[in-house]
Amino acid sequence: MPLIDKFGRQITDLRVSVTDRCNFRCVYCRSANPETHMPSGDLLAWEEYERLVRILVAMGIRKVRVTGGEPMVRPGVEDFISRLKALGVQDLSMTTNGQMLAEHCDRLVAAGMDRINISLDSLDRERFERITRTKMFDQVIAGIDAAQASRLRPVKVNAVLVRGINDDEVEAFAAFARDRNLIMRFIEFMPLDADRSWTRDMVVTGAEVHARISAHWPLVPVVHERSETARKFRFADGRGEIGLISPVSQPFCGHCSRIRLTADGKLRTCLFSKEDHNLRFLLRGGASDREIGDEILAIVAQKEKGHRINEPGFAPPSRTMVSIGG
Ligand code: 5AD
Ligand code: SF4
Repeated sequence: MPLIDKFGRQITDLRVSVTDRCNFRCVYCRSANPETHMPSGDLLAWEEYERLVRILVAMGIRKVRVTGGEPMVRPGVEDFISRLKALGVQDLSMTTNGQMLAEHCDRLVAAGMDRINISLDSLDRERFERITRTKMFDQVIAGIDAAQASRLRPVKVNAVLVRGINDDEVEAFAAFARDRNLIMRFIEFMPLDADRSWTRDMVVTGAEVHARISAHWPLVPVVHERSETARKFRFADGRGEIGLISPVSQPFCGHCSRIRLTADGKLRTCLFSKEDHNLRFLLRGGASDREIGDEILAIVAQKEKGHRINEPGFAPPSRTMVSIGG
């Protein structure tokens, strides 16, 4: 049974969060204060993920992205990638802060990973340190180097732009994409930060990024699938590409093909869902594959039409990005 919601959207992409822990504390994501983590007994075991993904692949999931927190902090993630590949996942990728990537890249490629997204929110070392609250700039750059030297393609670098923090680097990021021949993606800041400091005037829109970059280097649109989150452009005169991910200023919910599985086994039909659905409970309660599949079908059918960031009375979900998975 394919996964189709009541608006006719077919779900083909799964984001799997394997931990709510992270070795960074990015200001737009986590708080400076210590937070509580999921009890280890609540985390899905690799076998439990594998079972759910097997069920989901049979229902039409073709793309799987492994996320966190930071997915590489959970021991065994390479082995997990190879298990996912063996289940017939066509497009297997990971979102990472890049700190451990140089060290793990070869093993991830050997395990069958196809692509990678690496976060890099500043090209300036000191600013990077302020944003991530770490001193890992060199490690992340080494991670990008390792990814570009490997078979992983395409290599995408993600920057979340926050007004007053890194919005003056748009042109520098574009130059970075050109120099390195990679895809630089500009993500609008979403109200998913632990400190609840998000305000609309902190959002740097995709339209602004497009205008600023094309004032320097003419941009040519690149065709993309309807369900893709990014509007893509290449440089008319050279290498590299940019992607504009504009969930706030230009919501792309209408063609959404994604669902999310959290590290404690909750299925979420939207980043901004008010509630999630406890599959761990079913897994550990002796449900059959058939029963789990039926439950997933029922949950997906009720996927919300879209997020409501731009509607009056919007309230952010109680879970923040680090415990949902990007
Ligand atoms: N708004 C937009 N993007 C965010 N990310 C984390 N928190 C936010 C936020 N509040 C991004 C990370 C990474 C992906 C997993 O999500 O930078 O690219
Ligand atoms: Fe960690 Fe990613 Fe959140 Fe930064 S954005 S704190 S790297 S989970």
